[in-house]
Order: sequence, then C-alpha cells, then structure tokens
Amino acid sequence: MLSPDVVRKDFPILGRKVNGKRLVYFDNASTSHKPRQVIDAISDYYRFHNSNVHRAVHTLSAEATEIYDSSHEKTADFIGAERLEEVVFTKNTTESINIVANHFSGVLKKGDEILLTQMEHHSNLVPWLNAAKLSGARVRYAKIEKTGELDIGHLNDIVTKKTRIVAVTHVSNVLGTINPVKEIADIAHDKGALVLADGAQSVPHMPVNVRKLGCDFLAFSAHKMLGPTGLGVLYGRAALLDSLKPFNFGGDMISEVTFEGAKWNELPWKFEAGTPNMAGAAGMSAAIDYLNRLGMDSVFSHGKGITAYAAKRLEEIGGIEVYGPPLSRKGAVISFNLRGVHPHDVSSILDSEGVAIRGGHHCAMPLMGLLGVSGTSRASFYVYNTKGEVDIFIEALKKVAGVMLK
Ligand SMILES: Cc1ncc(COP(=O)(O)O)c(C=O)c1O
Repeated sequence: MLSPDVVRKDFPILGRKVNGKRLVYFDNASTSHKPRQVIDAISDYYRFHNSNVHRAVHTLSAEATEIYDSSHEKTADFIGAERLEEVVFTKNTTESINIVANHFSGVLKKGDEILLTQMEHHSNLVPWLNAAKLSGARVRYAKIEKTGELDIGHLNDIVTKKTRIVAVTHVSNVLGTINPVKEIADIAHDKGALVLADGAQSVPHMPVNVRKLGCDFLAFSAHKMLGPTGLGVLYGRAALLDSLKPFNFGGDMISEVTFEGAKWNELPWKFEAGTPNMAGAAGMSAAIDYLNRLGMDSVFSHGKGITAYAAKRLEEIGGIEVYGPPLSRKGAVISFNLRGVHPHDVSSILDSEGVAIRGGHHCAMPLMGLLGVSGTSRASFYVYNTKGEVDIFIEALKKVAGVMLK
C-alpha cells in the first residue's frame, strides 16, 4: 500500500505556499513534481561525474557513460523491453513520435493509410498529418463512443490492408480512457500494420510491459513520471528500429565517416546524435528506482482510489459535467466543466485558493470539437496526492460555483 503522506515528504515543492495557501497540485498529467532523490541524482551528476559520454577513456567519461548507458538498461527493464538497444533517449514523447512519423513520411505512398483515434494528443496527431502531407497517404480516425471509449468495432472496420501504422494513445490525457492496446495491436498486426502506443499518460501510472502490450513502438516522457524535463523515450522492437531512418545526424550516431558518406552507429545510438542529456538520464534512473520502490501496482491503485474519491465528491456540485468513461476503465484524470463557466475562470479562481489544475484544450483540439466545448477543466492525480487535498479542491470548486453560477 502506498502512503501519500510518506511519499509527500520526498517532494520539496509540496511544502511551498501558493497565493498564501498550501499548494494542492492536480496538474500531474502536464508534468509531475520531482522527489529529492531525482533532484539529488541530477545534482550529483554535475557535482561528481560530469563529462561527455562514449568519447574519452578518462575516468569521468567512463563514469558518465556508465550512468547514461545504465539508465537505458533500467528504462528497458521498467517497460519489459528485451534489450537496451530497444530504448532510444529523446527529448520527450513528442520527439519520440516524430522519429517514427518522420520515417513513415519517407516510406508511405499514395493509397497507404495511417490510423489514429479521435482522442489523440496533438503530439500523436500533427506528426502524422505532416507524414500524410509529405507522402500522399491518408489519415483515418477510429471513432470514440459517447462514453469516451474507443469504438473498437469501428477501428476493426477501418483497419485494412492499406493501413501501414496505427498510432493510438494508451491513456487519454483528457478523458482518462485506458485503451485496449493489446486488442488494437492484434487487429492491426492481422492486417500487416505496425502499432505505436503513446504511453505519455500510461507509463507513469500503471505497470506497462511492451511485450504484453504487443505494440511495436512506445513513446513516453520522463517529466511525467517523477523524472526530469528534456528526456523522452522511444521504445521500438530492435529489428524495426534497425530498419528506421535516423532523425538527426551528427556526432555519436555514426560508426564511420568519410568525406563521401557515413555509416550509422548501432542501436540505440543511431538515433541519439550529439551530446545527449546525461544529467537527465541520471534523473530518469532515480525516478524509475523511486517508482519501483513504490511498486507500479500500488501507484495504479492509489491513482484509482484518489480518482474515485474525487469523482464521488464532484457529484456534490450542481451544474457540473464530467467527461470520460466509467472509473473502472479510466486513469487518474478527471475532465469536467461547470455549466456556463469558462475553464480558464475555474482554474484562476482555484489558483487563488492554492489549487493547481489545468483548463483549456489540453492539446486535443479535435477532441474538444467532438465534445462540443472549447475546453475543459482537468484535475489529474499522482502518488503524492491525498484525499485531504481532494477535499480542499472540492471546497474551492464550491466557491467557484457559488461565485459564477449565481
Ligand atoms: C497523451 C499525451 N501524449 C503526448 C504528450 C506530449 O508529451 P511531451 O510534451 O512530453 O512531449 C502528452 C503531454 O501532455 C500527452 O498527455
């Protein structure tokens, strides 16, 4: 069992006040806070080991290389990848998806299809629109039901022999919907298509094993899972990554260069041109150690518990509309609107009470269009959030309703 009161002690930022009130941070789907173990790992890296990797034989460089490479191994273990070669470090989820979409923009042809869902974050939508534009391929969208769940029947109907890639979010950052990636992968593979899962909102919150998930690619960001900003992950099956074109070119991604041309380095370095984010990798290792200590099953059930409690208490507020599927099929995210009140107004009044939530389109404008709104308010929870904080949030929301719904 995870005890958020114990966990909180590791997060210095949670001790600060905002607008004279105790900070209640419910914007974890945007980015999570960092425990001192992660902050210390980054600071220790610069204090004691700072050097460049893969280049020199001196002691500091060997230490930096060990820190950097072992972070790939730890990440591979965390998601059940077979080898460190299958884990590329990028800048963030967005860059990870762009690496794959960039490859596809070069190999797709007119008549080919890219299949997305109607609930994608712009990061798993715009790169594919661009790939389609460059290649002449067509983008199709699997529909979502009124409940905010994917219409698997529709997805099944539109995956055809023309489909080359299915790119789907594992957990929606707006609705919280947990998509059945394994089932989707089976449908896609049956027709010869590859599958990319956007794990930005799943890897931080639940046990994720790429073999069980059956996806060919998985993208996620360290900063949403207690780790640092500036570090993302692209998992790909080794044989596939081997066949992908590099995205960036330069130092470290080559094995040999002449005036006429270059040979690419082995995986995963082929995709990691230039000096990488070593301090970020040190922070990522510490974040994974931290999550492993808590246990991902406990992280998941804590998220479920807090979400269920918040959903129940939200029922006390009149004029509220909550979006997304039933609790049993969603992650630690609640999107809602107070009838007639703009989400920005909700967020700013809550901010004056020390409560941080996100209001807006959540980088999912097409989904907002489907919901018939310009934006929503979103509360998203993580390992350090408590029921007591939910109570503060609800009281603050009642104030908003009192002021705005008069
Ligand atoms: C589902 C989903 N995909 C992709 C992203 C993009 O992540 P990043 O900004 O770290 O690249 C996010 C960020 O909120 C997200 O929620």
